[in-house]
Amino acid sequence: MIIQPRTRGFICLTAHPEGAASHIKQQIDYVKSKGEISDGPKNVLVIGASTGFGIASRITAAFGSKASTIGVFFEKPAAPGKPGTAGWYNSAAFEQQAHQEGLYAKSINGDAFSDEIKQQTIDLIKKDLGQVDLVVYSLASPRRTHPKTGVQHNSVLKPIDEPFTDKTVDFHTGVVSDITINPVTDPADIDNTVAVMGGEDWKFWIEELKAAGVLAEGVKTVAYSYIGPELTYPIYRNGTIGRAKDDLEATVPTINALLSDINGISYVSVNKALVTQSSSAIPVVPLYISLLYKVMKQKGIHEGTIEQMQRLFAERLYASNLPELDDKGRIRVDDLEMREDVQKEVAELWTQATTENLSEISDIEGYRNDFFRLFGFNVEQIDYEKDTNELVQVPSLTV
Ligand code: NAI
Repeated sequence: MIIQPRTRGFICLTAHPEGAASHIKQQIDYVKSKGEISDGPKNVLVIGASTGFGIASRITAAFGSKASTIGVFFEKPAAPGKPGTAGWYNSAAFEQQAHQEGLYAKSINGDAFSDEIKQQTIDLIKKDLGQVDLVVYSLASPRRTHPKTGVQHNSVLKPIDEPFTDKTVDFHTGVVSDITINPVTDPADIDNTVAVMGGEDWKFWIEELKAAGVLAEGVKTVAYSYIGPELTYPIYRNGTIGRAKDDLEATVPTINALLSDINGISYVSVNKALVTQSSSAIPVVPLYISLLYKVMKQKGIHEGTIEQMQRLFAERLYASNLPELDDKGRIRVDDLEMREDVQKEVAELWTQATTENLSEISDIEGYRNDFFRLFGFNVEQIDYEKDTNELVQVPSLTV
């Protein structure tokens, strides 16, 4: 079928298999160009492995360190006349390219929050790998059905005490407008967001993997967080999602205690703001990212998800020295984003940004391009007028 982008707000309803494959290949080539990560991971479980930071982590482990990888994700397969989701095509392309190089790669498609998927993952590790030495936790979801209570928790993106008014952009049209987001009225919204995006599920995963004996001596586990600039604090770090990130970060000592007898360690890595399916859903953030891109590209320090994850693995998690941590015990690969000169320039541009000057002072074009590339569009060598086979399968799907 001919597959072209079809968008609704910040969601793209279609994805292109060949475009996704080409985008994955570019990421693989990048990782290879950086050389082998010495003493990198060998057997890796990535939870949330199909898009954004998760697929970049999987690519880095596999192609930077020849690791065997098991990826868990929640994606829609393709059906006749109906394209699969981007993460589906990404995973198909990843597995194909990994298998071509003789690398073990299998995937599990299902709800990572559930006990069933945890058990199936454990069974697969036992059968094929024995143990894993790295667990990457990169889930981003709007909801979670709690495995013990059966309650469905829905996350919200809201400020906590006061209404928040600031600029935002519709990145499709480039129109800058003011947006007011009212604070939570029901404290349960905070608890629900923490239940979805906080640390409990990460802890459940590690508890269950450990109890099953599938974590290797010296295992590492890492989850991802974000801080960002003061201008997004009301909606991000001091909002409901920030409470969830506080909770995720506070889970580190609990997991470290769980892993101490096998000399394991857990980290939270604070990553850079980037265009992913999750971040495009947060008001205000796309405008910030398009200004940030402009400034960081001008300074020659822009990175995408793959550059971030390659650096996280090579220069932090698997560097010869233990990674440097901030005063709250976190790894920082948002260091370039948070540089004083970068933030100062972004803050100045923020006050100036209008619909009229946006294409000049921001990199809204780069934002849009990255957004479409998440779904396999805007990839140079692909002819989107041509028929493509939508029924691409993930070769080693276990569920
Ligand atoms: P994303 O939306 O690209 O990826 C989410 C992944 O989770 C996908 O693989 C998806 O299939 C999987 N997933 C969602 N629900 C699932 C479920 N119930 N069961 C199994 N898999 C499920 O998100 P992104 O942006 O890569 O986020 C990953 C982490 O990185 C999050 O913790 C996020 O807060 C964090 N982060 C993101 C930043 C950004 O700017 N995008 C910046 C810093 C941190």
